[in-house]
Amino acid sequence: AQSLRELAKRHGLYVGTAVDMAALNDAAEPRYRELAASEFSTVTAENVMKWESLEPTRGTYNWGPADELIDFARKNNQRVRGHVLVWHNQLPAWLTSGVADGSISKAELRQILRNHITAVVTHFKGKIWQWDVVNEAVSDPWDTPSTLHYKGFWAQNLGPGYIADAFRWARAADPKALLFYNDYNIEAFGSGNPADDKTQFVYNMARDLRAKGVPIDGVGAQGHLGTQYGNFSTLQVAAALRKFAGLGLATALTEVDVRSQITEGVEAGDSAEINPRLQASAANFSVLMQACLAERHCLSFTLWGFTDKHSWVPGAFSDPPEGLATVYDENYQPKLAYHELKSDL
Ligand code: XIL
Repeated sequence: AQSLRELAKRHGLYVGTAVDMAALNDAAEPRYRELAASEFSTVTAENVMKWESLEPTRGTYNWGPADELIDFARKNNQRVRGHVLVWHNQLPAWLTSGVADGSISKAELRQILRNHITAVVTHFKGKIWQWDVVNEAVSDPWDTPSTLHYKGFWAQNLGPGYIADAFRWARAADPKALLFYNDYNIEAFGSGNPADDKTQFVYNMARDLRAKGVPIDGVGAQGHLGTQYGNFSTLQVAAALRKFAGLGLATALTEVDVRSQITEGVEAGDSAEINPRLQASAANFSVLMQACLAERHCLSFTLWGFTDKHSWVPGAFSDPPEGLATVYDENYQPKLAYHELKSDL
């Protein structure tokens, strides 16, 4: 049987996964490494390129795990999405506490950010296909205030101008990498859902950056969906991607998974016939894939993990408990969603 990567290749599409380095190196679980290599043509570091992993102590960079992933990708003829240069989460404690206690000034913080982007992009120069330069900079309709705005540590401390700066600094360090803005709740447009407004906000941001000559090459829609939410149609997702492409930008689905609420009596291994979650999950994966395939500027379709054995969902969504978010179950058996993606390809 053909792999996802072989099938995607016929469309010129790269299909990827986030990689958990501990799972990749777990000798007791060879299936993880085998599938990561055989099914995917692009990989993303799930955690090891984040600031807290790369520079846990100020001035001391820990490149090892990220370099290992780059090496894995090279051996398996895979492209690498770099994730992530600027985000408000998973920052090292020395940075956040230094800002909180005033020992790092605003001027110094800007210099620290510039140095970080320059050091990281330079270290991986020539090895990264797409960089997520700025991640999740925009608020959600349920945040306070509910009017969409630039949120988080960087906007609070530096103002929204850090976004343009970050793209310029990244471009200067590696002129060939494609530079992306990445976010969630921007997967669809025309859905009538409040997420439409976030898509429009990010569109306006990207349009203004382009107008100012800021070097942004793409917008990534993460694609963290859930079967219990209002589900999008292929047309709505394609409309969002096409909007961004209308600015001359590339697009990508960067962190696709579809979570379900876990209720007692429903087992992960239940067959599709008796488990409507598996069908709803497959339908959501399929909508995102079909929209990406329909838009030729959609360069890659990346899963945020491929097996329920190693998925961030149960750890991040526990009240109520959610899971079953990937295309292979905990025993590495392909689920309906996997077969659905194949038939879309
Ligand atoms: C998640 C990882 O999957 C977890 O292992 C980690 O504990 C927290 O971060 N959006 C992103 C990703 O851009 O970096 C996040 O990854 C998931 C949400």
